[in-house]
Amino acid sequence: MENLIEIKGVRHAYSTDAGPLPVLDGLEIAVPEGGFVAVVGPSGCGKSTLTRLIAGLMKPDHGEVWLHGERVKGPRSTVGMAFQNPVLLEWRSILKNVLLPLEIVPSKLSKKEAEDRARFLLALVGLEGFEDKRPSELSGGMRQRASLCRALIHQPEVLILDEPFGALDAFTREDLWQTMHKVKEREPFTGVLITHDLRESIFLADQVVVLSGRPAKTQYVLDIPRNAAPTLDDLYTPEAAEQLNILRHQIQVAQGRTTEGAA
Ligand SMILES: Nc1ncnc2c1ncn2[C@@H]1O[C@H](COP(=O)(O)OP(=O)(O)OP(=O)(O)O)[C@@H](O)[C@H]1O
Ligand SMILES: [Mg+2]
Repeated sequence: MENLIEIKGVRHAYSTDAGPLPVLDGLEIAVPEGGFVAVVGPSGCGKSTLTRLIAGLMKPDHGEVWLHGERVKGPRSTVGMAFQNPVLLEWRSILKNVLLPLEIVPSKLSKKEAEDRARFLLALVGLEGFEDKRPSELSGGMRQRASLCRALIHQPEVLILDEPFGALDAFTREDLWQTMHKVKEREPFTGVLITHDLRESIFLADQVVVLSGRPAKTQYVLDIPRNAAPTLDDLYTPEAAEQLNILRHQIQVAQGRTTEGAA
């Protein structure tokens, strides 16, 4: 299968007052079409930098980022993004917040079609009946659902999620994991999920990439055999325990707490 996203030998340093800060140093990631890769790694190792490279918001010093067979040179409308803190505009209704990207990036949809699509997405994530509410009238989990709809409104090929569930309590987070599976089934996308939550990574992704500490390289890659209809119970199987063990160990290596097992 052709890889939709390819990151080859990417190196990047930010210039700071104290001189260059190397952040990425040998990143290799490949995501096939329809694949869902989770990226985990120590805080500050360069995960959000990686999302900016895929989205074309910045260019790496060295190496290549490819999207659908084309070198990424700038931002694209085929990439949707959602972040830890959903920035929704308080003076707009939830429906109008979801429609916002279509006002910025041209789309083929008529006004009516766009609105129908926004309503469909809101219903898909369980927000039917909240279309006319303001963001402050919604809970944190509901706001994150709305922000997911906004990221999906222009049917992006690639969905980048940078710790979207990080600020939510455990139960709300698990609800959203299940919603994500439902969304992916109805609205197929190729996904990159940045997370600190190893259970989240194995529940949602079909491959987990562990980055080393800064400057980050691809340290370890774990394939997760996908269950057709995953449930939260799957997180309590011996297979899941084994996957979590491997990942926990790799994170310790990345944090420099042990060198055993490092690539
Ligand atoms: N625009 C910038 N200019 C200079 N340094 C930056 C810039 N953006 C990020 N950095 C630095 O680069 C490093 C990596 O940042 P990045 O946000 O990619 O890490 P991260 O892995 O997403 O961290 P976290 O897990 O805390 O979200 C950090 O040390 C950060 O301070
Ligand atoms: Mg980050």
